[in-house]
Amino acid sequence: MAVLVGNWKMYKTLDQAEAFIDQIAPIAKESGNKIMLAVPYTAIKTLVERAKGTNIVIGAQNMNDASEGAFTGEVAALMLKDVGAEFVLLGHSERRQLFGETNAFINRKVHRALESGIMPLLCVGETYEERQGNQTEEVLKTQLTECLAGCDAKSLMVAYEPIWAIGTGLAATPQMAAEAMKVCRTFVGDTVPLLYGGSVNSENAKSFLENKEINGLLIGSASLTADSFAKIISLK
Ligand code: 13P
Repeated sequence: MAVLVGNWKMYKTLDQAEAFIDQIAPIAKESGNKIMLAVPYTAIKTLVERAKGTNIVIGAQNMNDASEGAFTGEVAALMLKDVGAEFVLLGHSERRQLFGETNAFINRKVHRALESGIMPLLCVGETYEERQGNQTEEVLKTQLTECLAGCDAKSLMVAYEPIWAIGTGLAATPQMAAEAMKVCRTFVGDTVPLLYGGSVNSENAKSFLENKEINGLLIGSASLTADSFAKIISLK
């Protein structure tokens, strides 16, 4: 059984989101995999209700580290919990690169998510330059050490998403992903799912899932259309 997580990023109106769930639900039921969707805040409550009775789990793409407060535009863990989100992406490279999120900030979010009963899906990964400079292992170790400091690293998931592979059509090889998973595994318990993300599509998904180090996938653009997502979640 693989853990297959779609990350919708900043896509889909409510109507589009609901139509997607209706299309995917019967396929998800047959799939035998764990199916999760990280959706925009605006769709969480509606999709949690829509996905009741299916095996699709709904989560968020971000949250703030504070419990509550005067933070205009931010969303707290308990608010996510309140609308039924079961997991949250933390430390996605788009958050790190476009919104300046640091490992220390992400670490506080991981703590907050865990104490609020929401499972963190921590994202880590190196830039192209770091890989070219043979720094991948060191970068991953720093991100994992700092993002997981003081956390009980058992009730979470980790995604290795090399930045050069995100949205580029240039996926890592399963071998590269498996090497990164070995590094990640030394930081988390045996049962923590380790996922690969970055240009996963219905053609290459199987090659990752065949590798026993890789427990699942974090899928961006190929999770946006029901057809391509259906193909991926139907893989055995
Ligand atoms: P793509 O699958 O579109 O490359 O995006 C990957 C990603 O960022 C998932 O979180």
